[in-house]
Amino acid sequence: MLIGTRHDRTAPRGISSSSYGAVAPVQDKLAALRGGSVSSDSVDSRLRLAYCQPVSPSLSSPASGSIRERLYTDLADWWPLLSPPEDYADEAQRYLELFTSALGQVPHSLLELGSGGGHLAVHLPSEMDLVLLDLAPAMLAASQRLNPTRRHVLADMRSCSLGRSFDAVLLHDAVMYLTQPQDLVATCRVAAAHLRTGGALLVLPDLVAETFAEGLAVGGGGPDWSGPDDAGRSARMMEWTWDPDPADSTYRVDMSFLLRQPDGTVQAIHDVHTMALHSLQTYWDCIRAAGLRPVEAPPLLAAQCPGQAFLAVKD
Ligand SMILES: C[S@@+](CC[C@H](N)C(=O)[O-])C[C@H]1O[C@@H](n2cnc3c(N)ncnc32)[C@H](O)[C@@H]1O
Repeated sequence: MLIGTRHDRTAPRGISSSSYGAVAPVQDKLAALRGGSVSSDSVDSRLRLAYCQPVSPSLSSPASGSIRERLYTDLADWWPLLSPPEDYADEAQRYLELFTSALGQVPHSLLELGSGGGHLAVHLPSEMDLVLLDLAPAMLAASQRLNPTRRHVLADMRSCSLGRSFDAVLLHDAVMYLTQPQDLVATCRVAAAHLRTGGALLVLPDLVAETFAEGLAVGGGGPDWSGPDDAGRSARMMEWTWDPDPADSTYRVDMSFLLRQPDGTVQAIHDVHTMALHSLQTYWDCIRAAGLRPVEAPPLLAAQCPGQAFLAVKD
């Protein structure tokens, strides 16, 4: 994720007008977030999750099938404060436009891989047939509160099969956790298997090797910052992006969170995220290896994306 881009507090906020018909009434949905919290231990009993079949036996991580980052486990309930859903409106609009450029029409069905708390999904048109897939139960729980009418699937995007196809597959923030090329290929193959002929895949890494630079970003929300939490909680976040080993295909993001409870108690947390640092060529190679054909994204739209946009279709 790129909080420095998404959380630009000088940028206009709110929902942009859409050329795609009825965009979901986001403010109503955001209201559902207010005043509530779900602990991660109660997730499974509160969610009606679909579990999908693994199809690929060989993934790089020995801990495949589990999420270790605290942000997506015991801190997932803070996600709406750390990365407010309102901040994703423009991106959602941009990605719809990119899909439309590749498909020649607005996608009617879309699978989002690694959909997290559903902060992007909440801005997609309500009439869209949308499936949200993530490996972290606590993130899916948060997403289900925000997107109660959408289907949620608990699965590893590198190795699952839903047994159906979509007009579009979106691989957004979660692509940053595919640190090894074989995982990127595996996920692109999963995406390809879920596309109808003529369907489109959009991959949006925050950073690529060619343009990597050490960086610092701040974010977070709460009552003082028009955040979504009326329960009186606030959060501030800092992301320090750096590359301890320029020879490998990863970089590191040291995240620090200050989490303030309604009684004024503040907890400081340090969470380390290892993220993918692949070249442009590697992304295209992995997309091609999955049998997809790269297509040129309209330059103006691509330039408006926070990171790099890779667009491909299934012939
Ligand atoms: C930054 S969050 C995504 C936030 C999302 N864009 C939103 O709108 O809330 C990244 C997500 O990727 C998910 N993820 C990481 N590796 C995954 C995998 N192998 N399969 C499925 N989800 C994965 C994490 O569980 C986490 O929820």
